[in-house]
Amino acid sequence: MALWGGRFAQGPEDSVFALSRSVHFDWRLAPYDLRSSMAHLAILKKSGLITSKDAEVIHKALKELTQEVSAGSFTAIETDEDVHSALERGLTEKLGAVGGALRAGRSRNDQVTTDLRLFSIDHMLEIAALLTAMQTAILEKASEYINDPAPGFTHIQHAQPVSFGHELAKHAHAFARDLDRINDWLARTSVSSLGAGALSGSSLALEPAFTAKNLGFESTFANSIDAVSDRDYVAEALFIFAMIGNHLSRIGEEWTIWSSQEFAWAKVADAYSTGSSIMPQKKNPDMAELARGKSGRLVGNLMSVLTMLKGLPFAYNRDLQEDKEPLFDSIDTLLLVLPAVTGMIKTTDFDREKMALAAPTGFSLATEIADYLAKKKVPFAQAHEAAGKCVAICEETDRQLHQLTDEEFATIHPELDGGVREVLTVHGALNSRTTSGGTAPTLVAQQIKEALQANLKTQQEIASKHKAFSEMMSA
Ligand code: ARG
Repeated sequence: MALWGGRFAQGPEDSVFALSRSVHFDWRLAPYDLRSSMAHLAILKKSGLITSKDAEVIHKALKELTQEVSAGSFTAIETDEDVHSALERGLTEKLGAVGGALRAGRSRNDQVTTDLRLFSIDHMLEIAALLTAMQTAILEKASEYINDPAPGFTHIQHAQPVSFGHELAKHAHAFARDLDRINDWLARTSVSSLGAGALSGSSLALEPAFTAKNLGFESTFANSIDAVSDRDYVAEALFIFAMIGNHLSRIGEEWTIWSSQEFAWAKVADAYSTGSSIMPQKKNPDMAELARGKSGRLVGNLMSVLTMLKGLPFAYNRDLQEDKEPLFDSIDTLLLVLPAVTGMIKTTDFDREKMALAAPTGFSLATEIADYLAKKKVPFAQAHEAAGKCVAICEETDRQLHQLTDEEFATIHPELDGGVREVLTVHGALNSRTTSGGTAPTLVAQQIKEALQANLKTQQEIASKHKAFSEMMSA
């Protein structure tokens, strides 16, 4: 059903209707559209623009439609243009002309962005909950490996030994920033646009703040033109999703490398691996690869919306209809990827012995020699030079740093003596990294404990926000 037509002598060409039509993707806004219609109905009734009797029958019909939409017994048909027109058809089929009463003081322009804000908040909270579950999995896995040394890398070359628990836990901190961003985003997105009308507000006695409160929004638009044009929250959500995808892709990369035959550190559970159709021996880390690969479309969706918004005139332009599919796709992608990656992390075991054996190789303890000299007030550039010489001699003579003799140490630098051997062990190196946030296992244990506490707090906050949102939706 079209929501316009009075001034047209002809209906749209098939190709025009086909290009305009959005109901095949925006149908998922239906529950939010129905709920925001209830809020709009409440203000029309409060200001006497609809009789109590009409308001009652419309409310009842909206409730019924909500049931039917959720049961799948009311759906869009070929001739519906978008979710708003499909639902108005549903109302008029039930109520006749009264079904069109809700259009007073409301345009699809303020309606669609209100629906999309509600949809985004609901799904952002779902994603946030999945993110915290992933953080828990990471931190719990990390706590199993606090006392296990492994080589730490820069340039994928052995750099300095680290606690493998520290290495795993870092991912939880990246996701903590995503959760922070989500929290900021929620405040900026929880703004109602209803009452902005097509672009200029309304001459009817609407109360945007009343409607906002009814829908659980924290605030109301300040400028009606901005209200119908603003899609910052879509772009920002897509940035958050792209960043999450970026973080997932780095986990994917690590898991892929760590489960290669060359590393053989990670043993991914069978249930989270896949096989090859031709090579019977293969066990591939496809979940890790998809975590890495899917990040491409998450970045792409952000680019798509930013490009669509660039230079767009205010207020509503039909270009804005292009905000939905990228947003939906990013949400659907994360809803698929997050549980699979969380499961993969939970069920991966690491080869402690192999990592510990690798930890001191590649002269990863050379910094200890430089630090030893720096503690004796040798200027660091000199200390670094001396440690470099130790590495060069060891490389030439095929020895490890602790195997250099006292005489050799003394020739390299007068301040260098046999005492340095005490720090030339992996455990010595790890335990000495006691600057806050460092890799000393006692600190790592504390960091993980604190991160788990923060994780629990975030989990509770998200659950309570989501509960309040669900209660608003079913009110
Ligand atoms: N379906 C449109 C969208 O998703 C909303 C309709 C607004 N259309 C209009 N001609 N003002 O953006």
